[in-house]
Amino acid sequence: MGIGIKEQIKELETKALKDLDEAKDAAALERFRITYLGKKGLVTGLMRTLGKLPAAERPEAGKQANELKKRLAERFEQRKKEIEGDGAKVFRGIDVTLPGRKPELGHLHPITQTIQDICDIFQRMGFRIVKGPNVELDYYNFEALNIPKDHPARDMQDTFYISDKILLRTHTSPIQIRVMEAQKPPVSIIAPGKVYRRDSDVSHTPMFHQIEGLLVDRGVSFADLKGTLVSFVHQMFGKRTEVRFRPSFFPFTEPSAEVDIQCVLCSGSGCRTCGHTGWLEILGSGMVDPAVYGFVDYDPEVYTGFAFGMGVERIAMLRYGIDDIQMFFKNEMRFLRQF
Ligand code: FA5
Ligand code: MG
Repeated sequence: MGIGIKEQIKELETKALKDLDEAKDAAALERFRITYLGKKGLVTGLMRTLGKLPAAERPEAGKQANELKKRLAERFEQRKKEIEGDGAKVFRGIDVTLPGRKPELGHLHPITQTIQDICDIFQRMGFRIVKGPNVELDYYNFEALNIPKDHPARDMQDTFYISDKILLRTHTSPIQIRVMEAQKPPVSIIAPGKVYRRDSDVSHTPMFHQIEGLLVDRGVSFADLKGTLVSFVHQMFGKRTEVRFRPSFFPFTEPSAEVDIQCVLCSGSGCRTCGHTGWLEILGSGMVDPAVYGFVDYDPEVYTGFAFGMGVERIAMLRYGIDDIQMFFKNEMRFLRQF
C-alpha cells in the first residue's frame, strides 16, 4: 500500500509537469490549475485518500503529497510568468527565441538586369535610349522597313494581328522608323522593349525582348558596325570571347550580317546548346538599306548608317548558362532567387 501511494504521487507529478509544459496560453494554464490544483483537482483528491492509509504510513505519505503540491504550485507560477511575459523566452505568449520570419527582399528579374546592363554599355558609347509602342501600325513594323504586303520576309515572323493595319510588333525595328521620322541625322539610339511572335519552344516564347540599335551619320561604314558590336560583345561576355560575322538577309539592311559568339558553355568545342557548332547567334544587323531612307526622307547620297537587333533572352541564357528560355517566364522563386 505504501509503495502504491508513492508511485501514485510520482505518476501524478510526471503527468502534471508534462501538461504544464504543453500549456501555451492563459486558457491552457487555467485548465491546468483547475485539473490539478483546484478544490476538486487531482492533487486535492490524492490528499483525501491519505486518510485511508495505515496510521504508520500516513505521516510520510502526507509529507510527500504536500511537497508535490508545493512543487506543482511553484512550477505553475513559473510557467505563468513565462506565458504572461516575465520569462526571458516567452513574451506575451510569443516565443522570442523562435527564428523570425524574414520579409522577402525583392530584386530585379534577370531579364530586366540584362536589359539594363546592355543599355549601360551602349550608353557609355554615346547611344541614347528611346522607346516605342508595343501595339504598332503595320506601316512601321513592315511597310516602311521595306517589307511590302506580299514580301516573303513576312513569313519569317508569324504575327499577332489586331486588325488589318494594327498588330503587336514582331521586332523593335519599327522604332528605327519612328526615330528617323522625328529627327535628322546624326542619330544614335538604342531601343529596348517587348516583341511578340506566334512561336513557342525551348528557345522561343510568344513574347520576348529585343534591343534595337541605330546609328546614322555622314561616312558611317561597315567597319563602324563591326567595331561597335565587337566592343559590345567583349564588354558583355569578356575580352576573350570570339565573334563571327555571318552574311545574312534582312529587307531593311544591305549588306546584312548575323553575329555569332563562341559558345560560352563549351568554349567552342561543341555542345547541345550550340547544336554542336561551337557558335551561338545573338543578333541581326546590317547597313541601313537606302530604300528605308526613302520612307523617312533622309538623303542616301549624304548619309549612311547601321542597325542591329538582339534577343535579350538569348543573351541572358548565354550569360547565366540557362538552356530553357521558358524558365524566365515561369515566376518560379527557386529559379529567380539565384540572380
Ligand atoms: C529581327 O528581328 C531583326 N529586326 C533584327 C535586325 C535589326 C536586323 C536591325 C538588322 C537590323 P530576328 O528575327 O533574327 O531579326 O530576331 C533577332 C533576335 O531575336 C534573334 O537573334 C533571337 O536572338 C531573338 N529571337 C527571335 N525570335 C525569338 C523568340 N520567339 N523567342 C526568343 N528570342 C527570339
Ligand atoms: Mg535570326
